[in-house]
Amino acid sequence: MTVEIPISEMSFPTRMVVGPGALARLPNEMEKLGTKRALIVADKGIKAAGIVERVERVIAEGGLAGAVYLGVSKNPIERDVLEGVETFRRVEADVVIGLGGGAPMDVAKTIALKATHELPLIEYDDLIGGDRKIHGNMPPVIAIPTTAGTGSEVGRASVICLGDDGHKVVIFSPHMLPNVALCDAELTVGLPAHVTAATGMDALTHALEAYVSNGNHPFADMMALGALTRIGRYLVRAVRDGSDIKARHEMMLASSMAAISFQKGLGACHALAHPLSAVADLHHGLANAIMLPHVIEYNLDAAPEAYAIAAQALGDNVSGTLALRARGCFNMVWSILEAIGSPRRLAPLGVKKKMIPTMVEQAVVDAAAAGNPKKLTPEAAKALYERAM
Ligand SMILES: [Fe+2]
Repeated sequence: MTVEIPISEMSFPTRMVVGPGALARLPNEMEKLGTKRALIVADKGIKAAGIVERVERVIAEGGLAGAVYLGVSKNPIERDVLEGVETFRRVEADVVIGLGGGAPMDVAKTIALKATHELPLIEYDDLIGGDRKIHGNMPPVIAIPTTAGTGSEVGRASVICLGDDGHKVVIFSPHMLPNVALCDAELTVGLPAHVTAATGMDALTHALEAYVSNGNHPFADMMALGALTRIGRYLVRAVRDGSDIKARHEMMLASSMAAISFQKGLGACHALAHPLSAVADLHHGLANAIMLPHVIEYNLDAAPEAYAIAAQALGDNVSGTLALRARGCFNMVWSILEAIGSPRRLAPLGVKKKMIPTMVEQAVVDAAAAGNPKKLTPEAAKALYERAM
């Protein structure tokens, strides 16, 4: 009997330092990289929360230097990166620290890229084979997440709004992986509940979409299930009591695991969520949170086994037919959304019906759509947006 076993691949070179208080190790990590002067890339919200000062203090106490760049937009644009590169050169930094949620970490990674790559940023778009133009000669990057959601600290992608229509472009290369991810849950303690909820739903969506996505990736699958198990147990706790450091830490772990898992691929939810940020300026996690139940319903019959296992990981204990157990995933996600008080509809958040045709056009060609277990047709994308309005 011949058994066909597909070949799978896994690479994960990012060094991870994880745990409450891990920030104190920053100077040590900078020195291990042979660096002395950091450019701290953050945004005004992180600064207002006092986190930039905490990081500056830790660097200074370690006898090293740190300059600060705060020009990061909510949905980063090209200017954020180019001005960051200018600052990086002006202050003669030798390492880039991405401090914040997805946006500052993505901008930090892209500043490191552009510091040594001459082509216009749009040339590195993954959709046109940009990854082949990215080489490893880049200044090192240390990622310090202040939310538990995007997982950009362990991701090889950076999302920047580019081109005439400002659509989200994914720049994707193993060289974009941060050298070090410093994951300290103490930095997430001050996050408001609605941000904890939205970023946590981003992590949940990463893990779920990766787990049910096309393709073969047993390592990523285990990371996805590890993330789903933690999110099922701890997301509601972290939202209800932001000072619950155990819940915060488990969500931090879950966020990184979920992001490691999506090197397998993502799916229709992210494909639909990206245009919601680019066109309607919606928070990425919130866009996922609203679209996810509709995407699960759309996909259920295409990957029932995977959804049934994901439901169990989230904590569902329903037994019965495969269809019932798969449906349990929808129910679990729905009950989490309810418990964390997440918004359900797009229209009250400013999304207009007239935006749908543009968003559909972007969604069906979004790189994430390729991983979906069922083809995301323009008709399906339109119907899913309309259902979520
Ligand atoms: Fe995401």
